Amino acid sequence: MLLEVKNLKVAYGNIEALHGISFAIDTGEIVTLIGANGAGKTSTLLSLARLPRPEGPLVSGGDILYEGASILKTEAHTLIQNKMLALVPEGRHIFGNLTVEENLQIATYPHRRDINRAVITGEILELVYSLFPRLYERRKQRGELLSGGEQQMLAVGRALMTGSKMIMLDEPSMGLAPKLMYEMFRALKQLNFVKHLTILVVEQNAKVALDFAGRGYVLKTGEIIAAGSSAELAANPDVKKAYLGG
Ligand SMILES: Nc1ncnc2c1ncn2[C@@H]1O[C@H](COP(=O)(O)OP(=O)(O)OP(=O)(O)O)[C@@H](O)[C@H]1O
Ligand SMILES: [Mg+2]
Repeated sequence: MLLEVKNLKVAYGNIEALHGISFAIDTGEIVTLIGANGAGKTSTLLSLARLPRPEGPLVSGGDILYEGASILKTEAHTLIQNKMLALVPEGRHIFGNLTVEENLQIATYPHRRDINRAVITGEILELVYSLFPRLYERRKQRGELLSGGEQQMLAVGRALMTGSKMIMLDEPSMGLAPKLMYEMFRALKQLNFVKHLTILVVEQNAKVALDFAGRGYVLKTGEIIAAGSSAELAANPDVKKAYLGG
């Protein structure tokens, strides 16, 4: 397994948000975590990325293994430097006053000591532009002038620029018109197919998530209540009722 989450507990102060969840992702898989508001999706991703919000969350139990070794003591920037795991956070967090291209280039900053940085940056940049032609068209434009959907693509592009083996996306469909959303998922699927990029995607939009992923887990108030292939989850009466609109 590339990533293994074992009985993970996460708390904000005295409040436990994840009550011991376990799941695993193999190299080259697309896996989704679905759940309603407050289920603990973002808390899970922040914990895996080793990126506490300013106010927490703190891992209070369990373990996170990457290629068999615990990353609980590993810092977020180390995960990026070693091209292990990159997060596309909830909301877009792009630099509004930088151009699209500068936003993409700056994402390789953690690799600044890599003597091949320039070559690698050029190659990945080309890849990102081929996946998202819209970003290429807008490459000289300031980030803040992009539409919401284009900003979301840019946020995904930035995560790809880190060259990580695995990326995690926190509600990437949020605020995207269907056309842009499908463009984005198609690009990610292509990357998964061609480069074996491992993807963990968190969604409230269960239908979209189950179409995109091979299998998934359902998170409810800090616990995993169902797991299975996307087809199994989509056919599960409880999942249908609660997350697929009946
Ligand atoms: N900074 C915080 N301080 C205290 N509690 C928090 C904090 N952030 C999240 N929580 C709580 O942790 C629980 C899980 O929140 P989380 O943001 O992980 O949910 P989510 O599944 O991502 O929800 P959404 O779909 O709304 O983004 C919620 O009960 C939430 O209120
Ligand atoms: Mg969230």
